[in-house]
Amino acid sequence: METILVTGGAGFVGSNFILDWIEHIGTRVVSLDKLTYAGNLRNLTALRSDSRHNFVLGDIGDRAVVRKVLELYQPAAVVHFAAESHVDRSILGPEEFIRTNVEGTFRLLDEVRAWWVTLKPEQRESFRFLNVSTDEVYGSLGEGDTPFTENSQYAPNSPYAASKASADHIARAYCHTYGLPTIITNCSNNYGPYQFPEKLIPLVIGNALAGRAIPVYGDGQNVRDWIFVRDHCAALRTILRRGVPGTSYNIGGESERTNLQVIAAICNVLDEEVPAASPRRDLIEFVKDRLGHDRRYAIDCTRLRAELAWEPAESFETGLRKTVLWYLENSEWAKEARGGNYQHWISVNYEQRDTICRA
Ligand code: NAD
Ligand code: DAU
Repeated sequence: METILVTGGAGFVGSNFILDWIEHIGTRVVSLDKLTYAGNLRNLTALRSDSRHNFVLGDIGDRAVVRKVLELYQPAAVVHFAAESHVDRSILGPEEFIRTNVEGTFRLLDEVRAWWVTLKPEQRESFRFLNVSTDEVYGSLGEGDTPFTENSQYAPNSPYAASKASADHIARAYCHTYGLPTIITNCSNNYGPYQFPEKLIPLVIGNALAGRAIPVYGDGQNVRDWIFVRDHCAALRTILRRGVPGTSYNIGGESERTNLQVIAAICNVLDEEVPAASPRRDLIEFVKDRLGHDRRYAIDCTRLRAELAWEPAESFETGLRKTVLWYLENSEWAKEARGGNYQHWISVNYEQRDTICRA
């Protein structure tokens, strides 16, 4: 593999992917990132003086920037992470999700196609466009339903999920119509280092450590299938090398947990590592539910296991402990991430939300 272009490389999954790539493959990575509230160059501090990483500040929807980057770096693959990624923000302000996830992905794909047709036939054939997507495109499962496969019907429920589903359809169409070698991946909930503290796991760690209430939407029985972020990155690496263009791959940790189970597990690790006067579970507060809240996600990743021999390295318990310890050891990172407009988000999303009862 030669140079790869990563969009959204300063975000949570993108930065983990770049660190993982440099560690395991070691070829040059160019990141294109707009540095929204969720983008953080500190995630890539370890590569600050590493000549294998180049950072470009720019929007995936800016055709001129994308064109310049493609011409300058001639990437062998594009790994597309850049997105608005938080479901709650998509409920309160969907427009930015359409702009970035739908229009931005379309423009990026269109510029990539225009550049790709100019390549030599063997370069065109080996080129890959990996559209990193989510299991949320499949909608919600009931308690006894079988997990989502790659053949499950798309039924996105939130504006975020609908915008990601649109991006998947465009990526698929660019393969079918123009022959651009696109691959789509649909992954379940990631957790690990560098996750912006608006998402459940880092939010709970931060609140629990500060002795603040832990907000649980609805009855806390919604189920997510959790995967350690580096296992997702390893799967993407494998798919990039051996995945078949025009194919979708589901990625998941096969670790279904209710939100209350996740929160209890975090509190237990924290109580062990940093004992407090009372168990941190006492901080749980049930609050008004998320609008249209999907009940359950579960991923069947048989294709990835059987065809590409991928296996997750972490169980939920080992991955979660690593994650909690990382946040304890990187309190400065977390403090900085909670600066800026973060407090505004907290007040918009939580302070005007009804509290139903304490745990
Ligand atoms: P994130 O919000 O942490 O990071 C998004 C990154 O994209 C940020 O660095 C941001 O600055 C950048 N960005 C946003 N708009 C941009 C634009 N117009 N141009 C260039 N850069 C832009 O998100 P994440 O959790 O790291 O998710 C990354 C990708 O993985 C997303 O596409 C998401 O749908 C997908 N995904 C995430 C998860 C998860 O659990 N986090 C699971 C499955 C799939
Ligand atoms: O499934 C993959 C998706 O996982 C990704 O595509 C998204 O980018 C990512 O944000 C994540 O979406 P979720 O909505 O599942 O993640 P979040 O961390 O926001 O919420 C996880 C669960 O916890 C969900 O059921 C809502 C609940 N929750 C969340 C927050 C922030 C709470 O109960 N309280 C909270 O304060």
